[in-house]
Amino acid sequence: MEEKRSSFSGKLGFVLAAAGSAVGLGNLWRFPYLAAQHGGGIFILVYIILALTFGFSLLLMEISIGRKTKQSSITAYKKLNKKFGFLGYIAALVPILILPYYCVIGGWVLKYCCTYFTGQGIKAAEETYFGSFISGTSAPMIFFIIFLVLTLLVVLGGVQKGVELASKILMPVLLVIIVGISIYVFTIPGALEGVRYYLLPDFSNFSISTVCAAMGQLFFSMSIAMGIMVSYGSYVKDDISLIGCVNQIEIFDTAVALLSGFIIVPVVFVFSGEAGLATGGAGLMFETLPVVFKDMPFGNVIGAVFFVLVLFAALTSSISIMEAIVSMIMDRFKLKRWVTVLITAGITVVLGLPSALGYGLLGNINPLGMDFLTFFDYLSNSVMMPVVALLTCILVGWVCKTKVIEDEITKNGEKFSRRIIFRIMVKYIAPICLIAILVYYTLAQFGLVKY
Ligand code: ALA
Repeated sequence: MEEKRSSFSGKLGFVLAAAGSAVGLGNLWRFPYLAAQHGGGIFILVYIILALTFGFSLLLMEISIGRKTKQSSITAYKKLNKKFGFLGYIAALVPILILPYYCVIGGWVLKYCCTYFTGQGIKAAEETYFGSFISGTSAPMIFFIIFLVLTLLVVLGGVQKGVELASKILMPVLLVIIVGISIYVFTIPGALEGVRYYLLPDFSNFSISTVCAAMGQLFFSMSIAMGIMVSYGSYVKDDISLIGCVNQIEIFDTAVALLSGFIIVPVVFVFSGEAGLATGGAGLMFETLPVVFKDMPFGNVIGAVFFVLVLFAALTSSISIMEAIVSMIMDRFKLKRWVTVLITAGITVVLGLPSALGYGLLGNINPLGMDFLTFFDYLSNSVMMPVVALLTCILVGWVCKTKVIEDEITKNGEKFSRRIIFRIMVKYIAPICLIAILVYYTLAQFGLVKY
């Protein structure tokens, strides 16, 4: 017999679970290094503009699709229009590609938790610490598997018990600790110059790659085009205001991203200048923050608390990514939850091992000139997610028309004051931007434009 569809207990439960999904490594690990690489203030400006227009419309659209169809994405698109059944399968691939490398980075965070809990914060601040850890063989693999098992255990608990509870307690604590660290960063000599670089847009740093990077980051950070928000939307009760929820999720997600950048970018600026910002890359959070904690009063304790909270933020997101996969497979194949979770975990191990070993044992295999983790990140954020978002916009904007979604949003009497912006975004602006991104990345692959 088909299992009864779970639902969130109310608005707060949904907002916290969705914010828990949104806030994760995307905000804490990915956003700061992209902001550093793409010109600081100008990246922030572009990101905020995109979040208010593009992000708002796409997030609202996905949650509404979920609530309207009461299906996860593999079957939701088909329910909206029979010809778009294929989109469900493409959308299903995105979380399947993301979860493995997400768990690898989650494993890195877990490793840093252990480092701080065993009082080795000073060691973590050494220049070679991060590099020698990720280029190892057994350590990155073991931490990856442990993180995956932690994710799996929560997903086995079901929606309400697992995801809501974890999000409710930990998200607010994370915010408080990041604000605390930001205040400390302000007191570091020279940090003000870095804060200026981070906050004041310098238009000479603007390029098309700033927009593309900000857009990819928006997808990743807000869990858009990953199938997650469609699934979560399917658990939302009909009387809840979707616009209110989307506003709150966006504010929370963007605030955490901006604050994370605030505790990382100025510090890199102080210690290694603009050159360090450009070359920092994926290791930025792991290499920079230990240096901050080293000189901070009670640095080892604060470092331990910080990495534990990052771990929980990463877990609430990985839970949502796995939940998206699991609910899709359950809806499509009518399998039991525990069987589906085990199948998903198996696929994740197979796809995650190349990313876990991509800086050591498999370091000389470079698909499209990238290490495995960067390759999977590129494939999902720069190719698959724009494709899914584009096709969803075509489906909603042109095939079944935005009115179907607008009616879903307003069916409980909710006022939709940004209706026109929503319509124009979904029908015209978002598709044009998404096509531009896809063309740009394709040209960049052939070396025809600078990436
Ligand atoms: N949205 C999730 C994050 O930011 C995937 O980590």
